[in-house]
Amino acid sequence: MNKPAASVLRCEICGAQYGEMDARTACECDGLLSVLHAAPSENGSALRARFALRRGSVSPRASDTSGVWRYQELVMPSAQQMVSHPEGNTPLLTSAPVASYVGVRQLSLKHEGHNPTGSFKDRGMTVAITQAVRLGARAVGCASTGNTSASLAAYAALGGLKAIVLVPEGHVALGKLAQTIAHAARTLVVRGDFDACLRLMREAQSALGVYLVNSLNPWRIEGQKTIVTELCEQLGWDAPDWIVLPAGNLGNTAAFGKALVEMRDLQLIDRLPRLAAVQAEGAAPFAASFAHGFVQRQRVEPNTVASAIRIGDPASFDRAVGAIRNTDGVVIAVPDEELLDAKAIVDASGIGCEPASAASVAGARQLVRQGLVRPEHRVVAILTGHLLKDPEVVLGYHRAGEGAAKLANPPVTIDATLRALEHVVFSHS
Ligand code: F0G
Repeated sequence: MNKPAASVLRCEICGAQYGEMDARTACECDGLLSVLHAAPSENGSALRARFALRRGSVSPRASDTSGVWRYQELVMPSAQQMVSHPEGNTPLLTSAPVASYVGVRQLSLKHEGHNPTGSFKDRGMTVAITQAVRLGARAVGCASTGNTSASLAAYAALGGLKAIVLVPEGHVALGKLAQTIAHAARTLVVRGDFDACLRLMREAQSALGVYLVNSLNPWRIEGQKTIVTELCEQLGWDAPDWIVLPAGNLGNTAAFGKALVEMRDLQLIDRLPRLAAVQAEGAAPFAASFAHGFVQRQRVEPNTVASAIRIGDPASFDRAVGAIRNTDGVVIAVPDEELLDAKAIVDASGIGCEPASAASVAGARQLVRQGLVRPEHRVVAILTGHLLKDPEVVLGYHRAGEGAAKLANPPVTIDATLRALEHVVFSHS
């Protein structure tokens, strides 16, 4: 194979360009960087066929087994040694009860909780850690509400790198904290929220030479693009009408917009789906800004039960605006109660997801109510993380007692007798 042309990092504000082996994750002017690749030698059906061949291959190479690296031309063409689990290859599921709850006939759930550490973060992390190893980084670090840190910890361990993690005190779900510690990341619990953690991590990046792998890192975005590449491939490259996703720090929203435009330009898909980014009502600066035509960037004091998206000052704000504009997208917010009810429906359907993930299902339902999404539209909702990430929210929701939630399914304690068992099982409605 010929050596692929190098990619460049381009500032999204001033247009300055840097080589792909430059370790900076922001421009001199403080603008965010995005990766530009040389056009692949093929496009359209030839490129689709190349991807399909790799998927069908039995070789153990990451470029065949990984649902990220199979699309290497769109991600990091020059990589040779990947730090891969592998990741991706997540299912596109259907569920009659969830579709009927949302109010559409064709709903697919792209379940990113099936990734190795249980969230979509692995798709970006395999690329960012591969780059950290290529750069010879001394350590990698991130601020996180928990999933990025779990993923960073695992991939840093795979790549043999020291990992440093900053998480907000009291606002990280149990499963995520457990994973981060277990995978041996140095875990610092910060007295402050996620936004404070990220500010501190950015200072540490320049002062201590830590390679930052938050989604500010442009290589994270390249990996996360493959969520939509893979889902379009699973739909036979026939793009859906809508892609609905939870939105917090806005890396994923930015990644989806970039992926869709690039895929259209490469003739992999022939039209753009509309993106719908869904925030929790108590942490919805992006939705507030959208409601006023994005004339101003907004910041809020965040508060939501969905700790993954408890973010008031999203780092990828500006590039996510581009993603919404380019796809004729919308941004909405859902109250915590709707988010938890949607989660209970997804969980009871046998699929399951973490609280933040259910924002996509609750959001799709709200869009149907508003008449923007019509019952005949083909909708893909992204489930970003696994149910087991946040057992405390599950138990809190289902626990019996005053003010119990609509769909609560509390466990019942009984004596060890058949009579007691029969009484509970058959006398309950
Ligand atoms: N869903 C889950 C499960 C997440 O963990 C996150 C973000 C999002 C949605 C939102 O994605 O930030 O790209 O808009 N979690 C980050 C973290 C912030 O640190 O794990 P986004």
